[in-house]
Amino acid sequence: MSDKRKILVTSALPYANGPIHLGHLVEYIQTDIWVRFQKMRGHDCHYVCADDTHGTPIMLRAEKEGITPEALIARVHGEHYRDFQGFHVAFDNYYTTHSDETRYFAETIYQRLKERGLIESRAIEQYYDPVKEMFLPDRFIKGECPKCHAKDQYGDSCEACGTTYTPTDLINPYSVVSGAAPVRRESVHYFFKLSDPVCQKYLREWTTGQLNETPPLQPEAANKMQEWLGLEGENKLSDWDISRDAPYFGFEIPDAPGKYFYVWLDAPIGYMGSFKNLCNQNLPSPHGGGVGGEGGLDFDEYWSKDSQAELFHFIGKDILYFHALFWPAMLEHSDFRTPTKVFAHGFLTVNGEKMSKSRGTFITAESYLKQGLNPEWLRYYYACKLNGTMEDIDLSLEDFVARVNSDLVGKFVNIASRCAGFISKRFDGKLIKVYLNGETQPSDGEDHLDPVTEQLRDARDRIADYYENREYSKALREIMLLADAVNFYIADKKPWEIAKSLVSATDEETNNKNQLQRVCSIALNCFRHLSIYLRPVLPNLIKEVELFLQVDTLEWKDAEYCLPEGHKIGNYQHLMTRIDSKLIEALVEANKTNMQATADPEPHSEQRHAEHQQHTIQPIAETIGIDEFAKIDLRIARIVKAEHVEKADKLLKLTLDIGELEPRTVFAGIKSAYDPAQLEGKLTVMVANLEPRKMKFGLSEGMVLAASDERGGPCVLFPDEGAKPGMRVK
Ligand code: MSP
Ligand code: ZN
Repeated sequence: MSDKRKILVTSALPYANGPIHLGHLVEYIQTDIWVRFQKMRGHDCHYVCADDTHGTPIMLRAEKEGITPEALIARVHGEHYRDFQGFHVAFDNYYTTHSDETRYFAETIYQRLKERGLIESRAIEQYYDPVKEMFLPDRFIKGECPKCHAKDQYGDSCEACGTTYTPTDLINPYSVVSGAAPVRRESVHYFFKLSDPVCQKYLREWTTGQLNETPPLQPEAANKMQEWLGLEGENKLSDWDISRDAPYFGFEIPDAPGKYFYVWLDAPIGYMGSFKNLCNQNLPSPHGGGVGGEGGLDFDEYWSKDSQAELFHFIGKDILYFHALFWPAMLEHSDFRTPTKVFAHGFLTVNGEKMSKSRGTFITAESYLKQGLNPEWLRYYYACKLNGTMEDIDLSLEDFVARVNSDLVGKFVNIASRCAGFISKRFDGKLIKVYLNGETQPSDGEDHLDPVTEQLRDARDRIADYYENREYSKALREIMLLADAVNFYIADKKPWEIAKSLVSATDEETNNKNQLQRVCSIALNCFRHLSIYLRPVLPNLIKEVELFLQVDTLEWKDAEYCLPEGHKIGNYQHLMTRIDSKLIEALVEANKTNMQATADPEPHSEQRHAEHQQHTIQPIAETIGIDEFAKIDLRIARIVKAEHVEKADKLLKLTLDIGELEPRTVFAGIKSAYDPAQLEGKLTVMVANLEPRKMKFGLSEGMVLAASDERGGPCVLFPDEGAKPGMRVK
């Protein structure tokens, strides 16, 4: 097959310090469906993942349990793998980031970035636990909220009143690890120079899809990136701190004793590590050999700069920053290929709310399976909800029961259970051939075509497109409409009534007998078609269908035709039971009691990625002399007018008076934070001698000053009383 694609797919690597829950499963099920679809299409598709094993939380968790981090991650690896298998998530390799392969690539990438001058070291200040003798991520500092005085709030924000601050703003801050008050301490860190013009330029090109045939990001994600990158010429990215000090569980940086790669540096590299490990296993690919039939997997074919293979990352929207900024920039500048596309999905809510341990909706994968719930019920429900956007998806438990019972049992399985018996009992299990448009029909003067079978076959490309574009909800809506059509056909032909009329063997009855076989053959062929379309979502159920229909593993191309004349089916065995809502009640109850000890809601993403939040005091730029500073002519400006600019999402047009004859026009990227009316008449500070810049909307003759970082902004500067337009700021 010449159009056979080579595809490598990943899901985000789950942290090795917690159980897999239904929120995670949104992602792994979404990815697994896509991979199974690609494999059914006959492509060479490989799905790799791993546990994300490094970092402070894992180190401390192991310590608390009195075991080594290695023992902890080995145990959790087993648990995660078991849960994924339980939900039929079929990785080609499920590995760990704590591996020789990942270490090798982390070192290689680091080395190459260093050779390109993109690694820099400098001293920064951070919060330090003087008793435990370690630097503290914000998550590990607590204290009283400076605003509302709620006790025991995390170092970055107050859960009671929502204020954000830095750990030292807390009243009586203490280290969660030792209880000691954190102190500020300096240490040398290594940075990936993301602010380097080379990186900025590359990321702009990558984001806007100038380098690929199609853009690598969904529109919402591309917008986010634009926000992070800022306007052309603006340098909004800061360098990325990629080192952590001992004690740390991770890879020590070569030539930097006591310094470790930050967990988020080696985490995505774990995708490469896992794939490399798969290549090393040297197994033939599941879809037969590659060129020359040797079947082995070649790492370079997938990861070298000139790779023709496709690389897709499925992730949650909370980790877009890492996958769309750091990761492509790292790969590009260390001579590896970059992702073809990054697919971000939204977050799971249960009954319209965040998963919650106290409500019993923080449901672990393990407990779901232990309660005896069928994993394919959840796979089906998620698929019904999933689309290609970053919108959150809701698991409404009531709707879950209703939907699965009505669609899977009431519509799909029902077709087989209504027709199989007649074929087995009266026709020795044999089907007659159903002809499709384009096939030569027997010349017996009868019309052998049937609109319903035709309709099922004709949907194949449309449904394939939906799967390809991750529009699973649309695929399943279409499939269920087809199932409706088949059920309608059966209800119309009433095979049970035809059967009743068959009491003795007259000619008339023979005709009816043929009619009964024909109706049931049509219905069962349709059932086979529906099974093909549902197989990416329901792999286990469809395996049983294959057994019942006595067919080989269903592939997408099998939708081109129907079963041959005289094909013999097996005995129908009950395929799927209905969900009893009592099971769901028990599930919620079980998760309530299990979790009572730690009755807090699912940590929000800032906390899950505790270390991302680590509050480094922003590095100060290079030292300059006073002469250099004096070159910048800063002036007090009166905002005479502030207006929206048509078609600009980020800009406001400001008319500024700095005591000159004509007021200046400045386009400022502050629309997200200010209403024009609130600015008019105010004084601010502007750079008056900045080279004018021609923008899409007009000439910008300077710049106003505003503060911002990942905690917020832009916050425009307003001078103290007494300042007058035109005064110099120095
Ligand atoms: N370890 C990082 C990923 C590193 S990838 C190089 C991580 N781990 S995680 O365990 O917190 O999350 C794994 C994946 O599951 C992420 O893509 C995350 O977005 C997703 N989800 C975790 N909780 C989720 C929900 N409640 N809902 C949907 N997806 C969720 O992030
Ligand atoms: Zn507060």
